[in-house]
Amino acid sequence: MDYFLWFDNDFGRLNFFHTSIRGKNLMWNDLIDKINIPEDSIILDLGTGHGLVLIKFASKISNEGHVTGIDLWKNRDQSNNSLKSTQKLLQQNNIENRADLKTSDMTDLPFEDKKYDFVTASMAIHNIKSKQNRYKALDEATRVLKTEGLLIILDTGNHKKEYLSYLIALGYRIKYAKTYGIIGWWTGPWMSSYAIIAEKKL
Ligand SMILES: C[S@@+](CC[C@H](N)C(=O)[O-])C[C@H]1O[C@@H](n2cnc3c(N)ncnc32)[C@H](O)[C@@H]1O
Repeated sequence: MDYFLWFDNDFGRLNFFHTSIRGKNLMWNDLIDKINIPEDSIILDLGTGHGLVLIKFASKISNEGHVTGIDLWKNRDQSNNSLKSTQKLLQQNNIENRADLKTSDMTDLPFEDKKYDFVTASMAIHNIKSKQNRYKALDEATRVLKTEGLLIILDTGNHKKEYLSYLIALGYRIKYAKTYGIIGWWTGPWMSSYAIIAEKKL
């Protein structure tokens, strides 16, 4: 079945917009409630888009910490997607002193090993079409994460088993895993949202 056909009816469209505008925000609030974010945390947000997660994390840290958002700014994946428009949002939220943006591919990150306390990815990894490259993104996230750092993924549920088994094979401890109900439906229950909080052990 082509699930996107559901986008052609009111039920699917309503669910999609509700999840996109309100649900995603609520799911991240739930995830952030589950963790402790020290004020000096160094954070990387993969596929930051309009910076929803970057802005949330920036509001939790002091100027001793820092959040970087990286993206390839694909309009196919998020409308009005550009470094310039997200940079304006950093200004409007008054977080320019503790957040920055870079154009970079999450499968080949320009950062040193073990730099980050948290790596986040919100509805971003599924946009990489090949499984091999999705694994590369997880490998890169792992490389730049500190030991005992947290990788936090919110994504469509269709790659849930793939992410979980790969992260376990990489030696992560899964601290939290959840399939969300209606607040995470992208058109309907057949395309739900799934979250993982995984701690790097190596
Ligand atoms: C659906 S949007 C989600 C944006 C944001 N994280 C959110 O939750 O609102 C997916 C984002 O991933 C980005 N993206 C896709 N493939 C990427 C890649 N290989 N490297 C970096 N960013 C990528 C897109 O440009 C887009 O901004």
